[in-house]
Amino acid sequence: MRHPIIMGNWKMNGSLTANAALLDALLPVVEGLGSIEIVICPPFPYLSQAGSRLRRNGIALGAQTLSEYGAGAYTGEVSAAMLKDLGCRYVLVGHSERRSLNGERDSDIAQQLAAAKAEGLVPVLCVGESLEERQGGETRAVVGRQIEAVIDALGIDSMLGSVVAYEPVWAIGTGETASPEQAQEVHAYIRGLVARRSAVIAERLPLLYGGSVKADNAAALFAQPDIDGGLVGGASLDAAAFCRICRAA
Ligand code: G3P
Repeated sequence: MRHPIIMGNWKMNGSLTANAALLDALLPVVEGLGSIEIVICPPFPYLSQAGSRLRRNGIALGAQTLSEYGAGAYTGEVSAAMLKDLGCRYVLVGHSERRSLNGERDSDIAQQLAAAKAEGLVPVLCVGESLEERQGGETRAVVGRQIEAVIDALGIDSMLGSVVAYEPVWAIGTGETASPEQAQEVHAYIRGLVARRSAVIAERLPLLYGGSVKADNAAALFAQPDIDGGLVGGASLDAAAFCRICRAA
């Protein structure tokens, strides 16, 4: 019932020239992988450039964040409607870099998720614990709090048509990946948490793993029963590596 999703989060990387080269190398290879959903999330200024290429190739466009507000005097912000206008289908909300570097709180993230859904975008709610929290045995409490903050604010139906990405902060950009068993354990916990409110929504909810996903660890992660794909940072900037990750899904 859940089909695999592989998302490439380019973060704040790229240029018109570098993006064109990356898309040239990537698209002919991944467009043949029809059974998985592949999503590219470039920085805002490059959404149009990537979007015009992706629309011809059947790969989806995503953004890395959005404003919780609809329109108006919010200098520097980008609304859900603008993302929709540019052809986005997905948008990340609550990435750990947004939480730690931009001070986004659970309550802001819930409002961003609501704004995304109101425009028909698929929000990808990112959750995950720090190294200190994992070592303190707080992984479930942290991840549970991050998800329940959204469900408590918006209701369980907010998870229908959404995606959750578990990205342990200690594994992001560090080269240190959660083992397939560690990741599966948290994914199963997340699905169970949602199932307590709605078994049907829990069963349909795609759960992605993110944090140093590479070509050589992707298959073992994606083989886990509750891991439905990946949210890939660094390796999504390398066409060959990203293609191998997509093939592993
Ligand atoms: O959103 C993707 C992410 O944070 C993981 O980054 O570079 O560890 O794959 P990376």
